[in-house]
Amino acid sequence: MRALKFINNKLSYIDQTKLPLKEVWRRCMSLEDGFSAIKRLEVRGAPLIGVFAAYCISIAVKDFSLDKLKFLNQFESAIEYLKSSRPTAVNLSWALQRIRKRVLENTDKNVLGLRRMILKEARSIHKEDVLLCQRMAESGSKLINKSDRILTHCNAGFLATAGEGTALAVITRGHKVRRDILVYVDETRPLLQGARLTAWELMKNKVPCKLICDNMAAYLMQKGGIDKIFVGADRIAANGDTANKIGTYNLAVLAKYHKIPFYIVAPFSTFDLSLANGSYIPIEQRDPDEVRVILGSLRIGPKDVEVFNPAFDVTPSKLIKAIVTDKGIIYPPFKVNIKKILCQKKK
Ligand code: MRU
Repeated sequence: MRALKFINNKLSYIDQTKLPLKEVWRRCMSLEDGFSAIKRLEVRGAPLIGVFAAYCISIAVKDFSLDKLKFLNQFESAIEYLKSSRPTAVNLSWALQRIRKRVLENTDKNVLGLRRMILKEARSIHKEDVLLCQRMAESGSKLINKSDRILTHCNAGFLATAGEGTALAVITRGHKVRRDILVYVDETRPLLQGARLTAWELMKNKVPCKLICDNMAAYLMQKGGIDKIFVGADRIAANGDTANKIGTYNLAVLAKYHKIPFYIVAPFSTFDLSLANGSYIPIEQRDPDEVRVILGSLRIGPKDVEVFNPAFDVTPSKLIKAIVTDKGIIYPPFKVNIKKILCQKKK
């Protein structure tokens, strides 16, 4: 299963807001389509929005001027516009920056050449993400023992990447090689990515799982019911502080108290080494109705009640046991080891 397809120069994706009730595939035909798909979380998950945005730019530039100067201006505005769709997941700006760099290095080419190059770069970001997921699954699954009971939050599976996933790929691979694991899935309010997407993915992959409400995790840990926690990430600062779906920090604090190893799984494209620590990570604030209303129709609070709705929180690195990446597993001290592992030259 894949969350997006790029076939015959056409970009299509599963509308994740409709899952698990319906598998609706949509086409992205313009910059505006792409912006709205990301903003509305039809396409979501840090690595996936990076790949999707890269293809979206390659589609948008087909409508731009053939005059190079005008083209470059339109290209810059399009990049900024798409980037503004979601601020926390750094994979989005990382992918767009990678494309911008290629264009700026090749301004001697004509517009048709630049268009071809943008598409080529988008394809390679896509291909790379598939490979990164495989590598994370491979190394992370070695952390899983027979009969482990694992807790996860939000969705970090194939719906959140172009490949098999990050944290959920590690768990699924662990199931395949060691068997007998049980996965507890946090429902993940307000938008229920755990209940709607992760439980659906695990069931599709025949991985034994149980869905819990977010407020049941502490009780489970207190009863000795959780051996390990694996979650994904939206942005990791240079010292290892990690932004992920709101509620992740709660789990990390609980894990520390109950002495349960807490693991992050993320590719190199989720690291933002320009930020010294997590306090600099921008946190997306979303529509109050996501909290007042469930699944877009069931109102559960007074119509005009004020709401606080941050989409992410930041887990301090001292609560993290290790970060599984495509380049290997990073242990503390994170500030030193992140730099050492991520900046090592290819041999
Ligand atoms: O708001 P979302 O659904 O895009 O948030 C997604 C998450 O927080 C995931 O855990 C994260 O992007 C890791 S995805 C491999």
